[in-house]
Amino acid sequence: MKFFIDTADLAQIKEANDLGILDGVTTNPSLMAKVGIKGEAAVTNHYKTIAELVDGDVSAEVVSTEFKAIIEEGKKLHAIHPNIVVKVPMIKEGIKALKWFSDNGIKTNCTLCFSAGQAILAAKAGANYISPFIGRIDDSNWDGLELIEQIAEIYSIQGYETEILAASIRSPLHIVKCAEAGANVITSPLESILGLLKHPLTDIGLAKFLADAKAWA
Ligand code: E4P
Repeated sequence: MKFFIDTADLAQIKEANDLGILDGVTTNPSLMAKVGIKGEAAVTNHYKTIAELVDGDVSAEVVSTEFKAIIEEGKKLHAIHPNIVVKVPMIKEGIKALKWFSDNGIKTNCTLCFSAGQAILAAKAGANYISPFIGRIDDSNWDGLELIEQIAEIYSIQGYETEILAASIRSPLHIVKCAEAGANVITSPLESILGLLKHPLTDIGLAKFLADAKAWA
């Protein structure tokens, strides 16, 4: 399972990248706004910086909602860096755009997926990634992990090549459960990735080893 970080914060991207286990980055307009990126030039420059920092796919989301405009915006995003993946919303015009990008060799991530039916459509349209938002589903009192399992089963039965990119991760346990459920990729805030490190017995064990090692000195 690949690990992407879900942020536009350069310090957090660097910290995750320094761990040596980072495979890519996802952003969205809200995450870009959170770090204060405004205007086309600043947005373009920020995506370029991220793509040069990390050796892997970097999702950059279109904000257009009509086919032709999505294509034009996506082509511009794609031109920023070879690692840019065009993130397209799960809407009718988005499906048409996903097919166009697929036919024209531009990688895509279909975002805002909340059902298996949407995941089937994205796969049919040739999306490289489908992003089910598991945390937002959990927030709505449904089960996000069940959706990952269902999509994984359908994609396996049908032989779809679209990768399941579990998004809207809220905890380290989500990451573990996504690995069990058959996600190909998780995109997570840094906090949940670092949360995977934690176990009190590790801390207790290390403290004892280090204390005993003092006997060698
Ligand atoms: C990823 O591609 C999504 O934009 C992101 O994971 C959404 O997460 P949120 O539900 O925490 O905003």
